Amino acid sequence: MAMVLVTPASAGTTLGASAAEKGRYFGTAVAANKLSDSAYTTILNREFTMVTAENEMKIDATEPQQGQFRYSQADPIVNHARTHGMQVRGHTLAWHGQQPGWMQGMEGTALRTAMLNHVTQVVTHYRGQIYSWDVVNEAFADGNSGGRRDSNLQRTGNDWIEAAFRAARAADPGAKLCYNDYNTDNWTWAKTQGVYNMVRDFKARGVPIDCVGFQSHFNNDSPYVSNYRTTLSSFAALGVDVQITELDIQGAPANTYRSVVEDCLAVARCNGITVWGIRDSDSWRASQTPLLFNSNGSKKPAYDAVLAALNNGTTPPTTPPPTTTPPPTDPPPTTPPPGTGACTATVTVNQWTGGFVANVRVTAGSSALNGWTVTIALPSGATVTNAWSADRSGNTGTTNWTNVAYNGQVGAGQSTEFGFQANGTAGSLSPTCAAR
Ligand code: G3I
Repeated sequence: MAMVLVTPASAGTTLGASAAEKGRYFGTAVAANKLSDSAYTTILNREFTMVTAENEMKIDATEPQQGQFRYSQADPIVNHARTHGMQVRGHTLAWHGQQPGWMQGMEGTALRTAMLNHVTQVVTHYRGQIYSWDVVNEAFADGNSGGRRDSNLQRTGNDWIEAAFRAARAADPGAKLCYNDYNTDNWTWAKTQGVYNMVRDFKARGVPIDCVGFQSHFNNDSPYVSNYRTTLSSFAALGVDVQITELDIQGAPANTYRSVVEDCLAVARCNGITVWGIRDSDSWRASQTPLLFNSNGSKKPAYDAVLAALNNGTTPPTTPPPTTTPPPTDPPPTTPPPGTGACTATVTVNQWTGGFVANVRVTAGSSALNGWTVTIALPSGATVTNAWSADRSGNTGTTNWTNVAYNGQVGAGQSTEFGFQANGTAGSLSPTCAAR
């Protein structure tokens, strides 16, 4: 019997477009020295909406000599991302690994001061350009202790992690701040529980943490397990976003890749998935052929499984249900909502006493955008103080936001973001979007 496969009308044909239809990104690690490889950039530009510098934002790359900051390795990656409408995850600010020689030899107060200065300088350099920062990377020990890893940073005092988060928040209040680690995928593992307890404690004490990154380097020693979804949803229930930040799977089994995507789609606060490289030959574990593309750039069965899972997944509600009873009838519409069908805008707010940062995501509908305008009505008392990645008119009441030169063109189903900081209270913002 002949079978006819029906593709939903809205199904995307690339990882990024399909993820965007589910309100998520799909990213990859990028190595700066591969940006001159056209086979590499062809896949990068076609498939991905988020980029992580594989090594170029690490401490040894950005501060090779103490106090001398160098962005010549990372900036080409950030510029490539921005000119192609991709967002950037910053990786990473405070880590025991890939420390420059001068830092490796440091301890105590001098190291604490140097680490905080590093966080402040690098986050300030990229202020307004980073979707989320891996502020602290791999601070927990493997094995059964559930405790911290010994390192020169840990020996500066147990509060080094929260100190790094506070410095990052002060330097860029618009970036999501993540804790990132590996071997934290299995809910039953002591390391997972150790990180969970830290995040719960941070949320209880108001330490500025917004997200947890799960590296998810799956292999025979640290395999994918079906409780992965429980892990993601349990962290999300603490009030943080979760992100899959460095995904690769030994042998790239299609079913396992599919499960990971389905798990992310099942958790409303799972923002997106980043794979740790494009082709197998780009992988830090090339011999395990763990990625979605063959070394010759062709799509593997795992790619097809990921795309299908993104297209078939259902979108869970991203906002909690209203706690008040809605009016019995909707008020009659006065004017039709602007730009219906052309684009949509959603907003994420980080509110603190007296101020907030809003990140606004603009997503194209079934046609590409050549420009966009977002309208946001601010409640009384809210005043915009600064903004990035959009031009605005008005800083109180009804504000209009239009694209800047580099982010007006948004492919069908793709997204871009802008943001602003304001005094006052955001309340619930309802942005509308129109094509220009
Ligand atoms: O660039 C030099 C080259 O000049 C030199 O000839 C060569 C000799 O070894 O080394 C090259 O640098 C290597 C660098 O990757 C660039 O390829 C380093 O030796 C090598 O150690 C480094 O490995 C990186 C690793 O982090 C180091 O910790 C991998 O590329 C990178 O994929 C990996 O990424 C980490 C994440 O940051 C954190 N989570 C785990 C993940 C995988 O280890």
